[in-house]
This record gives sequence, C-alpha cells and structure tokens, in this order.
Amino acid sequence: MYLVTGATGNVGKEVVDQLLSAGEKVRVFTRDERKVAHWGARVEKAVGDLGRQDTIAPALDGVTAAFLLPVADADGIDHVRGFLAAAQASGAPRIVLLSSISAGAPTVQLAHRHAEREHLVKASGLRWTFVRPGTFMSNTFQWARSIRAERTVYNPHGDGKTAPVAPRDIAAVAARAMLTGELLGQALEVTGPELLSTPDQVEILARVLGTPLRRVDVSVDAARRRMIEAGAPPSLAAAVGELIERIRAGNGAVRTDTVERVTGRRPTTFEDWAREHARAWTGG
Ligand SMILES: NC(=O)c1ccc[n+]([C@@H]2O[C@H](COP(=O)([O-])OP(=O)(O)OC[C@H]3O[C@@H](n4cnc5c(N)ncnc54)[C@H](OP(=O)(O)O)[C@@H]3O)[C@@H](O)[C@H]2O)c1
Repeated sequence: MYLVTGATGNVGKEVVDQLLSAGEKVRVFTRDERKVAHWGARVEKAVGDLGRQDTIAPALDGVTAAFLLPVADADGIDHVRGFLAAAQASGAPRIVLLSSISAGAPTVQLAHRHAEREHLVKASGLRWTFVRPGTFMSNTFQWARSIRAERTVYNPHGDGKTAPVAPRDIAAVAARAMLTGELLGQALEVTGPELLSTPDQVEILARVLGTPLRRVDVSVDAARRRMIEAGAPPSLAAAVGELIERIRAGNGAVRTDTVERVTGRRPTTFEDWAREHARAWTGG
C-alpha cells in the first residue's frame, strides 16, 4: 500500500495515477472526500488533515512508502513533524518528500522552510528521498483569469528564466522513488527541459491558444499586493515576493537531467504541456 498526501494537488494526483498504472494499491489522503470521488473504488480514501494527528496514524497503516506534500504555510513544519512521528510508530515507511530546488542553497524564507522540512526528515531516522522541483508549469494556471478577461498576462518576473517542469514529470520521479527504493538518500533536483522566461511562456501560450496575448510588466510589489487582495496571507505574499525577486535577478536559470535519468524519457516541453491543458486558460 502506498500513501499519497496532497493527492488532489497538481503533483499528488499524478503520483496517484502513476502508482495505479503500475498496478499498486494506493491510499489517498484528503480533507474533502468529494475531491477524490473520481477514482471510485480504485483507491482507498483516508479523510484527514495534516494538522490533525489523529487522522494521520490510520492513514499510514500498512504503508510501504508515503508521498509527503507539506502544506506551504508556516504550520507546515509542525505538520511534517507530526507526520514523521506517526510514520516512526507505524512501520517506518519510506518517505518521499516534495521539497524544492531552492532547498539546496536556501537564500529566501520559502527555501529555508523547505530545508527545515528536509532536515526533520533526515533527523527522523526514516528512509527518505527528496524530490526538489523547480518552477511548476502549472503556476501558469494563475494567468487564466486575466487571459479570459482581457487576453493579458501580468508579469512580475521580468526576463528572469526558469526551467518549468510538468507536474506529471515531478510525479514520475516521486513514483519511482516510492516504488523502488533505488533513490533512497538522494535529493533529486527536477526541472523541465528548457530555460524559459515569462515572455517566452506567454509567446508559446499565445501560439497554443491561437490568440494574441498581451504582456504587462509589473513590479514585485504590485504582485505582492495582488496576492494579498486575492486572499493570500501577507507573510506568504512576502515570501513568494522574495522568490520572484530571485528569479527576476536571474537566479532561477537552472536545468537538470533528472527526469530523463530517473524515468528514461525526456521531460515534457512547455508547449506540449500547454496544448494538453489548453482549456484551463480558455474555459472552453
Ligand atoms: N509551484 C511551484 O513552482 C513549486 C516549486 C517547488 C516546490 N513547490 C512546492 O509544491 C507544493 C505544492 O504542490 P502542488 O502544486 O501539487 O499542490 P496544490 O495543487 O497547491 O495542492 C495542495 C494540496 O495540499 C493539500 N492540503 C492543503 N492543506 C492540507 C492540510 N491541512 N492537510 C492535508 N492536506 C492539505 C490539498 O489537499 P486537500 O484539499 O484534498 O485536502 C492539496 O492536495 C508546495 O509544498 C510548494 O512549496 C512548488
């Protein structure tokens, strides 16, 4: 049995599908059972909250490996601590932690949080693999509203490049780590195949959607204000702002060969991924 937390998220749902495709038994952890109804009887459901210790132990029962997706806010540290304690008491499954490429050399708050979680996992004595992705391609879903309303993308990243990675490719690395144990004790930096700036991605998306898209450059401060207006806690908006500053300054331009090395196939390009998800921006 394999446990997937964050099973309704961008990466977790792909981890579930890949474990199911491999013929494995999967237990999905969610706060809301309705969000996992589409898997029907193909998965076991564990309804719980990483902030509620009483819901974690039953979810870990009989588990060989667990995919741990920590909650992004500050409570996420306590959640990881609680999860690891429950895992130690429950057969010591392998832990595959979704971390971040920034954890390797933490310079900003969010990176320090990832590094702290990794430290907790290492200190737990459990067997582990860290999956450290770079920027997710799915971050561009955030553009859906302004693309639908005004065919515009607001860009606080300037010309800073990253190598956006498809959630499915991150999941493929995570699933491999869960299934084989070949990747134990490794911190795997997972990126997509191409270094792209936001203007590059907007150009590709315009081609995929068959419509011109306008790009409006905005300051990092403006992006922070927008996040807060959209309901993000100010501390999270500040932390994300720091990360945007780093990318803007050119520090996100890192590409790795991890997906190909671990899975044997080339990582998905942004163009192919965008074609597959085109409806997310058109609403059609
Ligand atoms: N976006 C990036 O570019 C990037 C880059 C590197 C690392 N990361 C890391 O990737 C993670 C986000 O991954 P994602 O995009 O796959 O996630 P996501 O789509 O934002 O989904 C979040 C998941 O977390 C679960 N969740 C939230 N609060 C929970 C709680 N209290 N207890 C249990 N589950 C909870 C949700 O499950 P339910 O709602 O079903 O309960 C959902 O499945 C973050 O840790 C982030 O730091 C992101």
